[in-house]
Amino acid sequence: MVSALDARSSRVVSQPPTRLGSREDLRTIGEPTVVDPKIRCRHVDVFYGDKQAIFDVSLDIGNKEVIAMIGPSGCGKSTFLRCLNRMNDTIEGCRVSGDITLDGQNIYDEKQDVVPLRAQVGIVFQKPNPFSKSIWDNVAYGPKIHGLAESKPELEEIVETSLRKAGLWEEVKDRLHQPGTGLSGGQQQRLCIARTIAVSPEVILMDEPCSALDPIATAKIEDLIDELRNQYSIVIVTHSMQQAARVSQRTAYFHLGYLIEVGQTQQIFTTPRHRLTEDYITGRFG
Ligand SMILES: Nc1ncnc2c1ncn2[C@@H]1O[C@H](COP(=O)(O)OP(=O)(O)OP(=O)(O)O)[C@@H](O)[C@H]1O
Ligand SMILES: [Mg+2]
Repeated sequence: MVSALDARSSRVVSQPPTRLGSREDLRTIGEPTVVDPKIRCRHVDVFYGDKQAIFDVSLDIGNKEVIAMIGPSGCGKSTFLRCLNRMNDTIEGCRVSGDITLDGQNIYDEKQDVVPLRAQVGIVFQKPNPFSKSIWDNVAYGPKIHGLAESKPELEEIVETSLRKAGLWEEVKDRLHQPGTGLSGGQQQRLCIARTIAVSPEVILMDEPCSALDPIATAKIEDLIDELRNQYSIVIVTHSMQQAARVSQRTAYFHLGYLIEVGQTQQIFTTPRHRLTEDYITGRFG
C-alpha cells in the first residue's frame, strides 16, 4: 500500500500562509491511511468561489472507527466533513476536487445519485433540526422515501429500532405522535440521530453534535457514539478535546485548511508531533 504521505512527498504545497514559515510546516504528519478504508480521500481541495478552504487533504476513514476532527474555528472541519456526502453540492460557488471513494466507488462520479449517497453517509448537525412533524414521522420519513419498508408493521419496526439505537425509545414511546420539536434539545439531537440511523447508513458524520447540549445530554450522545461504532463508521467534528479523547480512536488536526497531523487519539493528545497540534491542544492557539 502506498501511503498518501509517500505519494505526496515530492509535492510542493501550494500557497502556504506566510506567517507559518516553512512550507514543510503544512505537510501532514502521521498516518492518514488505514487498511481497507470505508472512505478514502486523496488530494482534496475545496474552494468557495476563488477562496480555497481545504488544501490537498488525504485521509482515510476506517471501517467501524470513530475519527475526531479538531482544530481552530474556520480551519475547514465542516467543509471537509461536507465533502464526504456531497453536502457541499448544496452551497453555491463551492467546488471540490480530488478523489473521494466510498467502498472504492467514486462518490463524485456524475452517475452517483446524491440521495442514496446521503442515506449511506448520513449527517447530524450542530443544532438539532427535527422536521416539524411527529416524532414517529421524523423517523419514518426517510425509510418511506427510500422505500425501505414494504408494510406498515415493517415501518413501525424500523422506527422503534432506530429510536432504541438512538437511546430515545423509553423516553418517547408513549408520545410518538407528538411533535419532534416539543422534545428537549438533547432528545431532539437523539431524534436526529434516530432519523439518520433509520435509513441504514454505513457512515455517520457529526458536526459538533453536542455543542448545543448540556453535560448530561452530551454524556448520553457520547455513550451512544460508543455503541454506534459497533455498526457504523463515525466522523465527529468537535471543539471539545475531552470529547475527542473520550469517543474517538483516531484524531485529525486541521489548521487553516490543511490536515496537519493525524494519528491514534491518545498519541495526538499525549505526544503530538507537530508544533501546531501541540500549540492547539495545550491551549496556546485557537
Ligand atoms: N458557505 C460558505 N461560503 C464561503 N466561505 C465559506 C462558507 N463556509 C465556510 N466558508 C469558509 O471556509 C473556511 C472554513 O470554514 P468551515 O466552516 O469549514 O470551518 P470550521 O473548521 O468548521 O469552523 P468552526 O469550528 O467555526 O465551525 C472559513 O474560512 C470559512 O469562512
Ligand atoms: Mg464548523
